Amino acid sequence: MEIQGRVVIVTGAGRGIGAALCHQFAAAGAHSVIVSDRDLAAAESVAQKIGTAATAIACDVSVESDVTSIVERVMAREQRIDIFCSNAGITVKGGLESSNADWQRMWDVNVMSRLYAARAVVPHMLQRGEGYLVQTASAAGLLTEIGSASYSVTKHADLAMAEWLSTQYGRQGIRVSCVCPLGVETDMLDDSDPIHRYLHLHAITADQAAVSILQGIQSERFLILPHPEVLEFFRLKGDDYDRWLRGMQRMRQKLSRDNAGKAA
Ligand SMILES: NC(=O)c1ccc[n+]([C@@H]2O[C@H](COP(=O)([O-])OP(=O)(O)OC[C@H]3O[C@@H](n4cnc5c(N)ncnc54)[C@H](O)[C@@H]3O)[C@@H](O)[C@H]2O)c1
Repeated sequence: MEIQGRVVIVTGAGRGIGAALCHQFAAAGAHSVIVSDRDLAAAESVAQKIGTAATAIACDVSVESDVTSIVERVMAREQRIDIFCSNAGITVKGGLESSNADWQRMWDVNVMSRLYAARAVVPHMLQRGEGYLVQTASAAGLLTEIGSASYSVTKHADLAMAEWLSTQYGRQGIRVSCVCPLGVETDMLDDSDPIHRYLHLHAITADQAAVSILQGIQSERFLILPHPEVLEFFRLKGDDYDRWLRGMQRMRQKLSRDNAGKAA
């Protein structure tokens, strides 16, 4: 899909990848870029830097009425939404000990938000016979994230939702892309976490990620991989699941040994 003249909503756009995406959409000639975030001040500051093409709107993606309301507002103003980017996401460190409340929060922000967005926007897109849903999942959705069970599980679910949406609506003019980056230099990467320190070694900037995402949308590719090596890891997993799991177990052991060494 060409970006020129399009109406675009990006969630979680107050900083990081979402903010970079808004800048890229505006630079590519989008007619209207809705910078949305639960942090309205952050969204306003991004919109102000972009200029007249951008509007900031508060939206907590884990609250269905917020998502419905942003879609209704933009439909009333523009009569269409061409591209909806479900980008907002969070992470919580930890495995089995993570609290049920943390799991629920991860599920609501990383997964239910994608359902709420599709539920609100797909009927309008079907009516026009055209529309694009973009979901920022993670390489953790194709592979796994060693330090966080809830991130791995919810990002797999994010990818599963995108696959389902594409299967269900692909023949009715709805395009879907799922973005699966490794490390991106944003506030999400936390250097006190050994896996995040490892991700930093191969991290790209948010601007680089956004450029890659726009290219993926322009060529209407389902799987957008700002780090091309992720495809190689995904192939290895598909070729020999047990070998891939043994490799991941080795890496987990090495990272926890390195971390114990640093702590000692
Ligand atoms: N940074 C990475 O290394 C990396 C790698 C792979 C995937 N991702 C994914 O990319 C997406 C963007 O992450 P980022 O690195 O830019 O993170 P970030 O923490 O820099 O920015 C996330 C933004 O989302 C907003 N947000 C959080 N919860 C929200 C909610 N409930 N409703 C609306 N907005 C909310 C925050 O206010 C913030 O502005 C996420 O889905 C993340 O999982 C990030």
